[in-house]
Order: sequence, then C-alpha cells, then structure tokens
Amino acid sequence: MDPRIRLRLMIICSQIMIIAAVTNPNDLAVLNALKSSWKNLPPRWKGSDPCGSKWEGINCTNSRVTTLVLAGTGVRTNDIGDIPSLSMLQYLDLSNNKGIRATLPPSIQNLKNLTTLILVGCSFRGPIPDSIGSLKQLVFLGLNNNSFIGTIPPSIGNLTNISWLDLSDNQLSGPIPVSNATSPGLDKLVKAKHFHLANNRLSGPIQSQLFHSNMSLIHVIVNNNQLSGTIPSSIGTVKTLEVVRLDSNSLSGTVPQNLSNLQTLSELYLSNNNLSGPVPNLLGMNSLFYVEMSNNSFDKSDIPTWFTLLSMNTILMEKTQLQGEIPSDVFHPQLESLVLSNNNINGTLDIGDRYSSDLIVDLRNNSITNFLEYPRFNLSLNIDNNPICEGGSTGRYCTARKPNIPTTLPSNSCPPVNCGSAKVLSPNCTCTNPYTGTIYFFSHSFSNLDNTTYITTLRDTLMSAFRSGQLPVDSISISNATLDEYKYLQYRLHIFPSSQDYFDRSSVSSIGTVINRQLFSLPFYGPLFFLDESYCCFPGNKSSNHGVVIGSVVGGFVVLLLIASAITFGIYQKRQATKAKQNNPFASWGLDNDNDAGGAPQLKGARWCSYEELKRCTNNFSEDNIIGSGGYGKVYKGTLDTGHVVAIKRAQQGSLQGAQEFKTEIELLSRIHHKNVVSLVGFCYEQGEQMLVYEYISNGTLKDNLSGDGRMRMDWVKRLKIALDSAKGVTYLHELANPPIIHRDIKSNNILLDAYFTAKVADFGISKLLGDESKGYVSTQVKGTLGYMDPEYFMTQQLTEKSDVYSFGVVLLELLTAKSPIKNGKYIVREVQDAIGKSNGLYTILDPSLGSFQTLGGLTKFVDLAMSCLQDSGVDRPKMGEVVREIETIIDLAVGGDSSLTFSSQNTGKVGDLYHPYGDSVSDASSLSMPFETELRR
Ligand SMILES: *[C@@H]1O[C@H](CO)[C@@H](O)[C@H](O)[C@H]1NC(C)=O
Ligand SMILES: *[C@@H]1O[C@H](CO)[C@@H](O)[C@H](O)[C@H]1NC(C)=O
Ligand SMILES: *[C@@H]1O[C@H](CO)[C@@H](O)[C@H](O)[C@H]1NC(C)=O
Ligand SMILES: *[C@@H]1O[C@H](CO)[C@@H](O)[C@H](O)[C@H]1NC(C)=O
Ligand SMILES: *[C@@H]1O[C@H](CO)[C@@H](O)[C@H](O)[C@H]1NC(C)=O
Ligand SMILES: *[C@@H]1O[C@H](CO)[C@@H](O)[C@H](O)[C@H]1NC(C)=O
Repeated sequence: MDPRIRLRLMIICSQIMIIAAVTNPNDLAVLNALKSSWKNLPPRWKGSDPCGSKWEGINCTNSRVTTLVLAGTGVRTNDIGDIPSLSMLQYLDLSNNKGIRATLPPSIQNLKNLTTLILVGCSFRGPIPDSIGSLKQLVFLGLNNNSFIGTIPPSIGNLTNISWLDLSDNQLSGPIPVSNATSPGLDKLVKAKHFHLANNRLSGPIQSQLFHSNMSLIHVIVNNNQLSGTIPSSIGTVKTLEVVRLDSNSLSGTVPQNLSNLQTLSELYLSNNNLSGPVPNLLGMNSLFYVEMSNNSFDKSDIPTWFTLLSMNTILMEKTQLQGEIPSDVFHPQLESLVLSNNNINGTLDIGDRYSSDLIVDLRNNSITNFLEYPRFNLSLNIDNNPICEGGSTGRYCTARKPNIPTTLPSNSCPPVNCGSAKVLSPNCTCTNPYTGTIYFFSHSFSNLDNTTYITTLRDTLMSAFRSGQLPVDSISISNATLDEYKYLQYRLHIFPSSQDYFDRSSVSSIGTVINRQLFSLPFYGPLFFLDESYCCFPGNKSSNHGVVIGSVVGGFVVLLLIASAITFGIYQKRQATKAKQNNPFASWGLDNDNDAGGAPQLKGARWCSYEELKRCTNNFSEDNIIGSGGYGKVYKGTLDTGHVVAIKRAQQGSLQGAQEFKTEIELLSRIHHKNVVSLVGFCYEQGEQMLVYEYISNGTLKDNLSGDGRMRMDWVKRLKIALDSAKGVTYLHELANPPIIHRDIKSNNILLDAYFTAKVADFGISKLLGDESKGYVSTQVKGTLGYMDPEYFMTQQLTEKSDVYSFGVVLLELLTAKSPIKNGKYIVREVQDAIGKSNGLYTILDPSLGSFQTLGGLTKFVDLAMSCLQDSGVDRPKMGEVVREIETIIDLAVGGDSSLTFSSQNTGKVGDLYHPYGDSVSDASSLSMPFETELRR
C-alpha cells in the first residue's frame, strides 16, 4: 500500500476515534481522576468514553455528564475529588456509601445546574459550606444521616426552588436560621414542602418568622433537638401542614390555640417537652389521625372532647395530668391505640361495643375502679396498677403485658426451602440475593403494625415505583416492624432481583435513589429514608489482591492441564470402548472400570437396545416423534422391532447423568414389575448417548390431565381411582420391592395415565435404595421438587419412606383442587390448611369441575387423609399401605357402598364404565404429551 494512503487512513481512523469519544474532555478528566483515587468504583468504568460507553451510574447530555448515581455501590474515598468541576451535573446521588468520609468543599457551588443532591447515609463530615446557597436550581437536598457539624447555613434560604430539605440525623447545632435585613433564612423557602431537621443539636427558639401563610410546607420535622421557647402561633397559618413533629425538645409555654386551624394536619407530635397551660384543644382538626403529647406539664384536665374526633386513630398522652372518666364514645371503630398511662383517670372504664378489633388500650397507673366489658374481640387492655386490680376481679387485664407489636409480618407461603448461604427465599419462592436495608418513616398515621393493609400498601407502592423505573425487581418482602426510640416506624426490606439471581450496580443504585427520592405518594406513611446493608453480590467484584490474582492464574492453568488430560484420557477410553463394544454391549459402561459404576448393570427384564435400533424406530429422532421434553432432554415415541410401542427418554448432550446415576436408574427400573409402576423395556448406552426405553403410556401425566392443555374431565371417582393406583405403586416400592425403594420425587408430573386412566408411577432417576440397614433412613443430599418436598427431610437430610408419603399428600391436594403446589407464591398445603380452618372454606378451594361438593362421597375422609400425609413429622404420617386401605374405604363411600366393585391390584380387566368412561375410544391418544419430568435432577 502506498505509504501516503496508509497515513491518510490512519489519520481518518484517529479522527473517527475522536468523533466517537463523545465525552467532554474536562468531564473525562474528572472521572478519570476519581477512578484513580476512589476505591471500589464499578469495574465497568473502562475505556476513554464514559458517555459513549455508558459507564455505570453516569448519564450524559450533549457530551456532558449530567447524572452521577453511585448509591449503595460501596465506593470509598476521603475526598469527593473534582466532582464540583462536572459543571453540567444535575443529579448527584452517592447515598448509602458509608465509606465516603469526605467533606463537602465550598467549590460545590460550581454545580450551578444541580437540581438533586442526595447524600443519605454516608459518612460526610465537617460543616455544610455556606456556598451551598449558590445552587439555585436545587430542588432536593438530602444530607441526612451523616456527620455534618456546625450550623445550618442561612444561605440555604437562597435556594428558593427547594422542595425537600433534609438535614436530619447529623450533629448540627445553633439556631434554625430565619432571614433578616442582611441575611437569607429558611422562611424564604416558600416552595419547600419538607423541613426535616430532626436528631441534631439545634438550639434556640423556633422564630415566629419561620412560618407564614405563603409557605407550602407539609412536613415540619424538628424532633430530638434542644429547641427552646414557645411554639410560635405562626405555625397555625401554614394551612398545608400534614405532619408536625416538635417532640423531644425543651419547648415550654402554652400550645397556641390556632393550631386547630390546621385542617389537613394528620400527625401531631408534641411529647417530651415542658409544655404547660391547658391541654390543647384540637377540635376542628378533622384530618387528625395520630396525636402524641405524652410527658408534658399541662394543667389538670378532663378528657378533652377532641378525643372523640372520628378520624382519630392513635392518642398517646402518658403523664399529662388527665383526670375523670373516659367517655365511651372515645372508643369508636377507627381508634387503634389509646395510651393514657400515668394519669388520674378514675371511675368506670366503659369501652362500649363499637371498638375495633385492632384496639390497644394502656391505662396503667390510673385510678379506675370499675370496668364494663362488652365481649366483642380479644381486647388488648392493660389496667395494671389501678384500684380495680387490687380486688383481682378483672385479673386478666391487670398483668403487665408486652405491647402487641409483632416482629415478623406475613412474608411468603413457600414450602420450607434452604437457599444456601447468601441467598434468600423470595415471596415468589425463588432463591436469589436480595438487596436489603431498613426503611424509616419519620411519621405514620396508625398504630396497629399487624394490619396488613399498611404493609401491602407500602409493598405495592414501592413495586410500582420500581416498575415505572423499569428496574429488574421481582418482589419485595417487608418484615420486622419496629418503632425505635424516636418513634420512627421502621421495616426491614428485602428487594429481590428478577432477571438474574443478583442485582448489578446500576440496579442497586437506581433502587436506592427511587426510594430516597420518594417521588411516589404513599398513604398512611409520612416521609422516609432508606439505609441499606452493603450489597453482597455485585457481578465482577474482583479483588485487587495480587495474591488472589496470581493464585487464580496458577489455579486456572492447573485446571486447563486437568481438562486437557481428561480429554486425552476420554478419547483414549472412547477408542477402547468402541473396540470392545462390538462383542459386549456393557464394555462401554462407564469410564472407570475399577469403579463400581463400571460393573455391568444387573438387569432383570430390561434389555439392551442399540443406538441404531432406537434411531430407526424414532424415524431418526424426528421432531414428529417427540412427545415430551424437559430439562433432561426429549422423549420420543417409537415402535421397537419387536412391535412394542415405547417412549424413549433421550438425555441431551450436556445433561447426561453420571454413569453411576444412570446405572442406578436402570437397575432399579429393571427390577420393578407392578401394574402401577411404569416398566423399563430397555436402555441404550453408547455413542455418548443415554436413553431409557419405557412402556408407552398413552394418556400423559396426571398434571397435564388436571391442569394442563391436555386436560380431561375427571370426575371424583376417577380421581380416587388414580389416587388408589398411584398409592399402590408407591406401596409396592416401599413394601414389596427388595430392597425397598424411596422414590424421592413423587409428583403429579411423575404419575402417568394409560388409556384406561390407570395411574402408573414413573421416573426413578433420584430414587434411593433403603438398603438393609435397620435404621430405616438414608442420609443424603436433599433432592426433589419444590412444592412436594417433605419439610422434615429438608431439615434433617434424613430420607425415609415417609418423605414420599408427604409428597403423595401434595398430589392428593392436587387431585382435589387441580392447582399447582406452588403458584404465584401460594403453597397449596397452606392454602388448604387455611381453607379448612374456615367454615365452608374447603369448598372455595375445590376444583370447580368436580361439580357440587355434596355429591362427593368420602370428601371429608379424603381431606383428612391428605392432611395426615402432610403432618410435619414423618412418624405422624400413615404408611403407604395404610393410605391404600383408606382410599379403598373412601371409594366405597364415593360409589355408595356398592361392594360389588373391587379394586385389587390384580384387577386389570374392565371394571365398568364408571372407571374409564372413555373406554377404548381413547386407544390412540398419541397427541397427548408425556414429558418424563426430570428437571430437578441436580
Ligand atoms: C440514565 O439514562 C437511562 C437511559 O439512558 C435511564 O434509564 C436512567 O433512568 C437514567 N438515570 C438517571 C438517574 O437519570
Ligand atoms: C444549565 O444552566 C444554565 C443556566 O443556569 C442553562 O442555561 C442551561 O441550559 C443548563 N444546562 C442544562 C443542560 O440544563
Ligand atoms: C443570596 O442571594 C442574594 C441575591 O441573589 C445574594 O445577594 C446574597 O449574597 C446571597 N446570600 C448568600 C448568603 O448566599
Ligand atoms: C441576620 O442573620 C444572620 C444569620 O442568621 C446573623 O448572623 C446576623 O447577626 C443577623 N443580623 C441582624 C442585624 O440581626
Ligand atoms: C374522678 O375524679 C374527678 C376529678 O378528680 C372527681 O371530681 C370525681 O369525683 C372522681 N370520680 C370518682 C367516681 O371518683
Ligand atoms: C412475584 O410476586 C409479585 C407479587 O409479590 C408479582 O406481582 C410478580 O408478578 C411475581 N413475579 C413473578 C416472576 O412471578
């Protein structure tokens, strides 16, 4: 090539590269500097074009970095670096990185376009710089849960666009600044909806000027500071207020009367101050749900009339000098909590008969002498230390009991599953690595933490926020409701990933920012913040430790060597095997002839089939012959040279069993001959293939017949017959096979139906011989199918025949309900248990196609039998032989005691139309699939 042309091309190429590198050079330099000084940044911060190659956590507009979100990613630094030079930055969220121990430099003022600054739950220290007042575009400022010191800069008052100001949980001191002739102050923030300044060391008075009628405040949260002086009456002019928390300060004097102008106020906290004068009159506040005024020095007072406001959910007024009787109309149906301990309430306690089932009443240390009870609900009442308790007449309410706060909330109804070390079972019954943390609410409008309405609302709101952000969240579980010392309601959140079993960094960051930014509306709850637990499981979390790197390189090399020698060995073996095979079909058995797996299988009845024969009889494994498929491979229908119609289960490449397992299955199957167990006709083990040849069962699996596409109407008696057949099959395995066999994977997918709807138990891939040791169980790695697995086996890893009985119990419930054992996070066993508890509940859960339940003879006995199979403890479950006898009794009831019908296992002839009304018309049902379900063989 002409050198000049080559040079041209090089120049063009480099120009293309410059054009492709869309990131502004200044921003690139800033990010590269961060990369070299911050620890634990995303590994995908690679290359020279953060905007073009989409570095995690970075969004750009016109080559400029406009978004930087690294929430919850575990970054560490002592210096925020040159972030202030990302001059077009609009959104900065570094929340939940405890490893950021930096100060906010005055140069932060350069972020002139910043609208959102979220630094929740880091370790920022030092003062909040005065220059923050230059960020005129700022709408959201969340600096809470850090270690900021110093005063609140008055310049924040210049941030006139601000809507959310949260400085709580820091070590800020000094006054809440208000404006004067020379300085701005928070009173200038007329667009602000949130002042959250709680849990600091703020002192001085709350200036009257702080509040005025032009403001838009909905939440004023300044609890747990050292504020003194009186509550300014100007607060009564901010008509938009919904939550006011002034509790745990040193406020004194009289509560201003115009507070009652706040028509939309729902939560008012004034407790733990030195407030005096009359108990505030809150009549007129028609949206008031929650009042906490305990521990103040109000004048002696009768129960105020606003107690009877119909909106009122919670009234907490301990130690406030209340006296006299409580009018019974206080106990209206909305009231969930009334705590008036340490007062002078006297006379008769009459709670009326309209009180809520959720009601909690605490009247300890009062002077109540009489109690009128209208038994309605299990009342949660404590009147310990009242005169009435001295006589012992109402004893059961006189003992101090723990408040009725649950620690765990309903999470899932999955069967018990052990997910291994880091993974957790999601409400949808999958094991994944959730992002976890605690969500804190500054306020809430209810008391009954048991009421699932509130939790459900929270869960659904968060889920829909995640969905609209298109985040890969599968589900959320919410647990451990607690009230902390500040009366913040908190829950532990587990947020489960959907597309993979872990979250990547961007998803964790986005989840954090969606919660802390709180753009959703959430009834019943006040404002919140979210603090996470550092996420365990980011992808590509490679250690920078050189020892590990070298170790894994060396290790990798060794693995390569091993693989290479294994391949060589394998080829050698295969050659040997191919040579030997000509004479003896079992010579190719297994790779290691010294090993037990290498011995020829001990066959009784089943024969060896050649690959060529099976290929021929399935028309070269043609698609048309496929009658099922599973994780294991495909199942083909074929006709052997002998004329037998068979189902050939062919393991697909890559999911072959170990030689030992394959051999086990063949040996097991070939020894088994029973009308209710699928028999093995033959097998093939050559040319890298593993195939099992079974008798062909024409009507597919029980599961498909109950709920799948191949569904057929099966009446009650037919279902009982199927239950009986399969019980007999399992009984044979347990009691008659020698040695006994535990199936380990009884499920409706492994019960096949023939043309006469005779049920046959199939698939012994994971079966265990019970050996002849007398201990009656085998210890084994837990295998089986979710939804059918015996919880006891699961816990103890000790497999007994009772584990099959449990699984069989689940199949009985499927026959009853036609539902999958686990669907949408519901576990059939629990559903039926719940249904039985309710009167007529059972009928809501029966398969509707069974028709009217009154006609189902023996139904109750059947349910009882299923439930006895599902006892938690194996010893409480019947043996399979007992199950067979019980089903026979039930069938007698179902057919009206017509004893002319018998069901012995020898009875292969036609019993009557009752049991196979399809008769011979179903002789060719080849369109029905027969997937030998083996997916869970791991
Ligand atoms: C960044 O951009 C992506 C799409 O380009 C968007 O899905 C994501 O929400 C943006 N992130 C932020 C924090 O704006
Ligand atoms: C940044 O702010 C300036 C002026 O405040 C404005 O003109 C410009 O459009 C903003 N840039 C973006 C990307 O919003
Ligand atoms: C607040 O803004 C005004 C006008 O923009 C400016 O003159 C003043 O210096 C600012 N004050 C502070 C403390 O930033
Ligand atoms: C105005 O307010 C600032 C900050 O709050 C304070 O330092 C200053 O002394 C005040 N000036 C007057 C005249 O009160
Ligand atoms: C209850 O207390 C009030 C005020 O202390 C008193 O007037 C009243 O007589 C008392 N009632 C009873 C029944 O003791
Ligand atoms: C997981 O459960 C939620 C309800 O908690 C449901 O909305 C969602 O569709 C489920 N996801 C899957 C994959 O089943």
